[in-house]
Amino acid sequence: MDADAIIIGAGACGLMCAVQAGFLGKKVIVLEKNSKPGAKILISGGGRCNYTNQWATTEQFISANPHFLKSSFNQWTVEDTINFFETYGIIGKEKTLGQLFPEDKNAKDIVEVFISLCEEMEQEIWCNTDVKDIEQNEKGFILSYTVGDKVKTISAPKVVIASGGLPIPKMGATDFALRFARNNGLKIIETAPALVPLTITGKDEDWYAQLSGNSVFCEVSNDEISFEENILFTHWGLSGPAILQISSYWRRGEVFNINLLPNQNILELIEEERKSNGKTLLSTLLNRFYAKKFTDALGKFLPLTKTVADLSKADMELVYQTIHEFKVKPAGDKGYDKAEVMRGGIDTNEISSKTLECKKIPGLYFGGECMDVTGWLGGYNFQWAWASGFVIAQNL
Ligand code: FDA
Repeated sequence: MDADAIIIGAGACGLMCAVQAGFLGKKVIVLEKNSKPGAKILISGGGRCNYTNQWATTEQFISANPHFLKSSFNQWTVEDTINFFETYGIIGKEKTLGQLFPEDKNAKDIVEVFISLCEEMEQEIWCNTDVKDIEQNEKGFILSYTVGDKVKTISAPKVVIASGGLPIPKMGATDFALRFARNNGLKIIETAPALVPLTITGKDEDWYAQLSGNSVFCEVSNDEISFEENILFTHWGLSGPAILQISSYWRRGEVFNINLLPNQNILELIEEERKSNGKTLLSTLLNRFYAKKFTDALGKFLPLTKTVADLSKADMELVYQTIHEFKVKPAGDKGYDKAEVMRGGIDTNEISSKTLECKKIPGLYFGGECMDVTGWLGGYNFQWAWASGFVIAQNL
């Protein structure tokens, strides 16, 4: 079987790479451990696939080298993603914050685009094929893989490692890329779960647990960054988009801030209320912004039964701190089983930003999540996966 390249992983990056290579008349074989291609695409966005973000720039990514992405994003833009999917009948609709989802289709249709194109161009996808190792000889690369209990090999002049990151091992995630990098002396930026719910334990646990299911629009911030979206209380801590976003910037032991009433100032609201009706209870005022259950829970910190007229200077300070500077110190995160992406990965300094070829191993390319490129929540990670797949295909 003669192929110009072998791609490891039929995920977002590997599938885009196979298709784009096909457009250029290059033959690839994609080796996929799962029984079907595109497992993570299928579950993404709750099965609807938030496949890009209209606002995507290099600014919404975390990497030790923030400039690394620029070349890939110049070569494959958000417009390119939108046009690519439109060509195959997937029209994007913005849900919120620039996030594009298929208007009247879903994640299955996105995967189907790649499967059909691969079939048409005779790009092969071998499923149930678990790649174990890559060796090099004078002709290129020899990959050993297992199919069931059989060990086999295949060789090709070029190899693409698009085997993804560590999140959701039960969906096929492996440490293949990281292990290969380590064994070949490539630097790795420390990895951790990202876009992941955070846990609260100890004395505050019950306070959070009683609010399980409640969602509040907030601004969540630390010294580095802030996000305005919903937070969701759960029986073990905090989730929801704003928490997933800040989790990528959070380190164990750190405290972050929640502004429970962004865009308004609670002290000004109290002053206004004092002028119109000083007898209004603090709880009544807060109920205008929150569900009663949430206001009641704030009673742990605030004198809810006082009237706004009766609030002392110390009370006012407490109200301000509780509403605008609510401090959270998570115990940890929910780990790779619940993370949407991996932070860290193969150091981008090991890879050419123009071609995504490994500098120390010519002919071998890395793409997608295995690298130290981590996007925000909202379609950014797929934009990187598509872009890196495209860039690699140009160089196979
Ligand atoms: P991806 O994980 O897609 O593919 C890697 C493939 O390699 C897998 O199919 C795996 O089985 C295979 N593989 C691994 N080791 C192998 C081996 N040794 N041999 C053979 N095959 C091997 N992003 C976004 O932008 N919008 C969204 O809506 C979502 N939603 C979302 C929901 C959930 C629940 C999760 C977990 C993640 C998301 N994401 C997301 C993130 C997104 O799924 C992720 O960034 C991309 O899938 C990464 O694409 P890759 O191709 O790099 O890896």
